[in-house]
Amino acid sequence: MAVYLDGRFMPLADARVSVLDRGFVFGDGVYELVPVYSRKPFRLEEHLRRLQHSLDGIRLANPHGVAVWRELIEQLIAQQDFDDQSVYLQITRGVAPRDHAFPAGVAPTVFMFAQPLVSATAEQKSAGVCAITAPDIRWGRCDIKAISLLANVLARQQAVEAGCAETVMLRDGFFSEGAASNIFVVKDGVLRAPPPSRLILTGITYDVVLELAAAHGIPAELRAISEAELRDADELWMTSSTKEIMPIVSLDGAPIGDGKQGPMARQMDALYQQFKQQVMRA
Ligand code: PDD
Repeated sequence: MAVYLDGRFMPLADARVSVLDRGFVFGDGVYELVPVYSRKPFRLEEHLRRLQHSLDGIRLANPHGVAVWRELIEQLIAQQDFDDQSVYLQITRGVAPRDHAFPAGVAPTVFMFAQPLVSATAEQKSAGVCAITAPDIRWGRCDIKAISLLANVLARQQAVEAGCAETVMLRDGFFSEGAASNIFVVKDGVLRAPPPSRLILTGITYDVVLELAAAHGIPAELRAISEAELRDADELWMTSSTKEIMPIVSLDGAPIGDGKQGPMARQMDALYQQFKQQVMRA
């Protein structure tokens, strides 16, 4: 498996980072995860724009322009022996003696690798998954895709220990998002999600879902959604680059709607698959 580290492609076993890397010591870095279908990156421009937003958020200069990122990602994709990939890229504030404040004159660490991307089957989507809820204990800049994911890790682990796929995080009586996904609610034919803010990561999948809703006349509304509305939903979805549009059919042990993939999830999944095909053909 070829990975990229600081200017070079190499076998994974050869990739080495100093233990003083600020990513290791402080979680001082940001990342992106780009889905790749049939060796074509999906929404790469949008992922690179969000990467820039994350870098700006932690005041770290982007080591590469868009053209260089594109080229590096293309090269990484070409070196894998599988067609559908999730390309992970991470930039940390580099290696320096431990001190919280930014080090001067230190080059960032840039790391990329690809994993096989196995999308959920139609049967898995039809069956849906269960989720639990937990308090959102994260900081106030969840719009930054930071590698310091401790609260998300704890939340996802809680879901796993409950035999579920995701944890929906609650803050001040409203839901924010999943541990590693955005959450949508359907009620009486209206699709709803919280608006972009510093309290959620605005997903690239979230944006695609909202674009598809607008293009196909599906009523959609962005506003804060209460815990009561979450529990009373006709349909609940989690969305992400790896899970696409996955129905949540039970929450904290109580069925959502009729306990299986709802009609709007089925429609949106079909639109999403169509959209992916168009992008792959382009
Ligand atoms: N996570 N919110 C959080 C906290 C996430 O970690 C993710 C994705 C999303 C959805 O974003 P997108 O649609 O752009 O994938 C929302 C990725 C998949 C991960 O960390 O593995």
